[in-house]
Amino acid sequence: MTNVVAVVGIQWGDEGKGKIVDWLSEKTDIVVRFQGGHNAGHTLVIDGKTYKLNILPSGIVRGKISFIGNGVVLDPWAFLDEVDRLKEQGVPVTPDTLRVAENVPLVLPLHRTLEKTRETGLTSIGTTGKGIGPAYEDKVARRSVRVCDLADNTVLVDKVDGLLIHHNALLRGFNKSEIDRFVLLKSLKDLAPKILLYMDVVWQKLESYHMAGKRILFEGAQGAMLDVDHGTYPFVTSSNTVAAQAATGSGMGAGNIGFVLGVCKAYTTRVGAGPFPSELNNNLGKQLVERGSEYGTVTGRRRRCGWFDAVLVRQAIKVGGIKGIALTKLDVLDVLKKIKICVRYRLDGEELDYMPALITAQARLEPVYEELDGWEESTRGAQSWTQLPTRAIRYVRRLEELIETPVTMLSTSPERKSTILISDPFSD
Ligand code: GDP
Ligand code: IMO
Ligand code: MG
Repeated sequence: MTNVVAVVGIQWGDEGKGKIVDWLSEKTDIVVRFQGGHNAGHTLVIDGKTYKLNILPSGIVRGKISFIGNGVVLDPWAFLDEVDRLKEQGVPVTPDTLRVAENVPLVLPLHRTLEKTRETGLTSIGTTGKGIGPAYEDKVARRSVRVCDLADNTVLVDKVDGLLIHHNALLRGFNKSEIDRFVLLKSLKDLAPKILLYMDVVWQKLESYHMAGKRILFEGAQGAMLDVDHGTYPFVTSSNTVAAQAATGSGMGAGNIGFVLGVCKAYTTRVGAGPFPSELNNNLGKQLVERGSEYGTVTGRRRRCGWFDAVLVRQAIKVGGIKGIALTKLDVLDVLKKIKICVRYRLDGEELDYMPALITAQARLEPVYEELDGWEESTRGAQSWTQLPTRAIRYVRRLEELIETPVTMLSTSPERKSTILISDPFSD
């Protein structure tokens, strides 16, 4: 029995974390984002109505207390726009329920400018273009403007000046126009009162909720293979996406996280550049794109699709301390006669049971597949294990064996109610 659960992606993002977090939030008091920024796109479908969340925790839709922890980088304009967008959809978002950590670094327009300038040719990662990478660079370089700086004009001016020494030097080097100090300062001063309404000492609030026995859900963004340490570097995002970051990125003790739920699709997708051993560059890949509506929530880019990669998922499970899996989008495979699973890689004639770190080795990996019969029946909308065809169950069981971890939740359509709970992460 635990009161603290972390939900993280364990492929290359877009695994369906938003849907799973929304479903679990019914049993939860507090939902916390702890890394990433508005590069995330989490889609919830509730009784036919779609909600798209980027920076706000998915629990906000159910009116749960929602925290943005210090591990996030926050674009304050995108944040306010999203609050307004959700309010227009009838979601009551107020500073009473939504709190932002005072030590959250800001994503500024200059971060987007720098990212755009660098995302060309050979060095392109295929980022979401939201300025996330440059904002994290400024964080570790100790020159970020943080939410709390908006409360003190002297600090704000000093921070902006320090930041511009660096960014304007870069822009001059790239032959681009420099940032206007007065324009930036004015926009931040105008913004300050609107953002400061949400500012809080999040680590302290979390501690007191935890002591009071409240249930806390950490909502990951991106996925393990996009983790800056454990992912397919450099084709990754700029934060740690694994569950350990839930502690660092919120100020909660690591020992308090009782269950880590890894979300993965019944196949694999990736947006942007980088290695993808089980990618399907054929009609089958296109079929998965269409059946799975595999177009990015944030950028609208078509997602690359491929078979389930058990090597990659097993690795993500080991490095991420995953205890159970939420397997999503099983229904997308409903029409297939045969389904393949990547069970090993071959590299220069040798068999390999993990994803090596060297980028040229990653690019040469050949998938070794096992083939199973498809079920060729609809699982869409199934809400119980007994509604699943035998061959679909066989597929799930085989995945569990290969990844050495139980499937504890299953999702069979975008709708909230199309979910099968096998074992409750809070009572495990
Ligand atoms: P996230 O970033 O991990 O929250 O995932 P996204 O929301 O970006 O992408 C997942 C997409 O799949 C969304 O459009 C969801 O509505 C949809 N989805 C989630 N679960 C299922 C499922 O079980 N079946 C189908 N067909 N779609 C799903
Ligand atoms: P959610 O939370 C899928 C990818 C980008 C790019 C790389 C770096 O919806 O799962 P960035 O803008 O972060 O510097 O881009 O990471 N990426 C995602 N892919 N889902 C996401 O988030 C992603 N966030 C970033 O496509 O390859
Ligand atoms: Mg997404």
